[in-house]
Amino acid sequence: MSAAQQERRAATYAGAGRSGSADPPLPADLFGDGRPDRALRVVHALASARLRWSALTHRRAPVTAVYADRLPLIVARREQVADDVVALTLRAPDGGALPRWHPGAHLDLELPSGRLRQYSLCGDPDDRHAYRIAVRRIDTGGGGSREIHESLTAGSALIARGPRNAFPFAVPGFGSPAHRLCFVAGGIGITPILPMLRRADRLGADWSLVYTGRAPESLPFRTELARFGDRVRIRTDDRDGRPDATELLPGLGSGTAVYCCGPTGLTDTVLAATRPLPGVEVHVERFGPAPVENGVPFELELARTGEILAVPADRSALDVLLEARPDRLYSCRQGFCRTCVTRVLAGEPDHRDGALTPAERAAGEILPCVSRADGGRLVLDV
Ligand code: FES
Repeated sequence: MSAAQQERRAATYAGAGRSGSADPPLPADLFGDGRPDRALRVVHALASARLRWSALTHRRAPVTAVYADRLPLIVARREQVADDVVALTLRAPDGGALPRWHPGAHLDLELPSGRLRQYSLCGDPDDRHAYRIAVRRIDTGGGGSREIHESLTAGSALIARGPRNAFPFAVPGFGSPAHRLCFVAGGIGITPILPMLRRADRLGADWSLVYTGRAPESLPFRTELARFGDRVRIRTDDRDGRPDATELLPGLGSGTAVYCCGPTGLTDTVLAATRPLPGVEVHVERFGPAPVENGVPFELELARTGEILAVPADRSALDVLLEARPDRLYSCRQGFCRTCVTRVLAGEPDHRDGALTPAERAAGEILPCVSRADGGRLVLDV
């Protein structure tokens, strides 16, 4: 699921699709005196021959071209995987190999309406020719999930950016000091967790999953999870009541790495239960924005109209801005996708995102979904 993440956000596909380029350029003059360097030419010729030989002997499927951060995709398959949840299998239009990804990664999808939304990849990272996402329809949101449910069918064309990973996963013994994995998923929050389970299982890690939701029919991929046997506990509110931390985190102790994705109430419960514990790693991806912490009231001034908007201590600048300008673009609401970027013309921002560079901040950019001001007023180029 989209989230918390961010992939901090190095795009893992950088450079993909540029295979087949010419040999590396040869410096015209190694010593700066204008004379050709013969030794370097010999080394270059040998390296070039080696590269050509490697290319001939290690042929791979061509990687689908990524045009300036935009990846064209086609919906190859649409499946109903739970009440109000569809899974889409996405392929390159030419059937070529797609950029690699790792568990926890997501795609930024440009929908036909122009909305940009993030969806976790829930297929098999070893399948280089298909991505899979799953989307729950939420009619009270910004319309992205409704658009997918109503307008995307097999054959629909999409543009994606990514994959990017804001919820990276490390297996014990393969990059994590933990010796046990405790997964917690709420509803559609199973999407980034599913590839993690497959990888943990394949590598022989000690792991368990608690998968929770409103009712069994609301939980996608229950059939796929059945093969993991009693490592997976499915519990639903209609049968078991609301879960507490003890139920969500069985056997929690030092040396455990917790990966949790789901609604804010679930992730807050997990964070509250694990924060005081030494030796416990916690990785969380939430669906919605985190509550504002240590906020103070401030004002926004919309420079093009002169309107003044009051931002309370417990609300984001984006939320207030959207009331006045419902057409403003946004997506993650967690400060990583950059969709809501806005320019500050005057005032002192309190930057709380993890996405903008110091140079971008110095140039006046701000992500109002998380960033704000420590009192006073920000004048926005809006
Ligand atoms: S909405 Fe994603 S950074 Fe603001």
